[in-house]
Amino acid sequence: MIYTRISGTGSYLPERVMTNAELETMVETTDQWIVERTGIHKRHIVAENETTCDLAEHAARRALDAAGIKPQKLDMIIVATTTPDRTFPSTACLLQQRLGMHDGQAAFDIQAVCTGFVYALGVADKFIRSGSVRRVLVVGADSLSRIIDWSDRSTCVLFGDGAGAVVLEAGDTPGILSTHLHADGQYNELLHVPLDSQYIQMQGNEVFKVAVNTLGRIVDETLEANHMQKDDIDWLVPHQANIRIIAATARKLKMPMERVVVTVGEHGNTSAASIPLALDSAIRDGRIKRGETLLLEAFGGGFTWGSALLKY
Ligand code: ACO
Repeated sequence: MIYTRISGTGSYLPERVMTNAELETMVETTDQWIVERTGIHKRHIVAENETTCDLAEHAARRALDAAGIKPQKLDMIIVATTTPDRTFPSTACLLQQRLGMHDGQAAFDIQAVCTGFVYALGVADKFIRSGSVRRVLVVGADSLSRIIDWSDRSTCVLFGDGAGAVVLEAGDTPGILSTHLHADGQYNELLHVPLDSQYIQMQGNEVFKVAVNTLGRIVDETLEANHMQKDDIDWLVPHQANIRIIAATARKLKMPMERVVVTVGEHGNTSAASIPLALDSAIRDGRIKRGETLLLEAFGGGFTWGSALLKY
């Protein structure tokens, strides 16, 4: 039996930090409102000439270092992003060139907004388990600051830029146990970039309600598929959109917040980057240890949602 194992993680946040205090000077808002409603204290924003691929490259190199493998050993790159550098070629192809991989390894992007990383993980897992490839680099990277209307207080306080990456390798002991991917396009206009605009528009409170309900359901689906109980999970590593959504999912799992990885306060909602950023921080600071069971979950535009259960 072939399993998909995480052999290394890495992440990157751009240097420029935007605090809530700075946002107070840009729109009618307060640090108190932002922290109480979202848990966000600051976010990182790309520099003028910095792109999603730049963020992805930093995160990818750190993940490859952690895994101890050279990029040339990879069989495939998948980048989850909603803010690619260009319409085409894909960010994955640009990243492949930067990593010096010239042996025709497959490289492609996946777009499922905030659920993108979970979608990419699911696809990579299928390729590895089927025996088609042995090593895949999965990156979640986004520069949502480029598609934010900085005069719209209902969205601009929520998002930030960043990237996270994992190196996945075929192994013979359990790693990824299952992935669950879903979408429902009937909700597309609750969170979208309208045709006549370049900026995100969102009906925040509607998104909030559907997100909380849907994430509760996917937790049940994931546990049932693996014949597991809530207390079999060691760590919840959720999409970092909003501390209240995260806390609601933790309550559903009856999981104390000490077992939930929360980084949203430090970087806001970084879309496809948020789960691998959180995962990498908890692995590097020693909270998540080898052999522990992790539940990853995400919800985002589309709507899309998904989860992954894995043994680290
Ligand atoms: N500062 C001050 N006041 C604000 C701000 C702001 N930045 N933004 C909105 N308000 C005001 C509104 O205008 C409204 O005022 P009114 O009562 O006078 O009309 C009031 O605050 C309440 O607005 P709501 O939208 O009802 O506030 P809510 O409690 O729902 O919080 C929030 C808003 C934080 C956006 C919340 O709905 C949310 O987190 N939704 C989930 C959205 C999300 O995370 N999307 C990301 C993508 S999907 C995903 O990743 C899960």
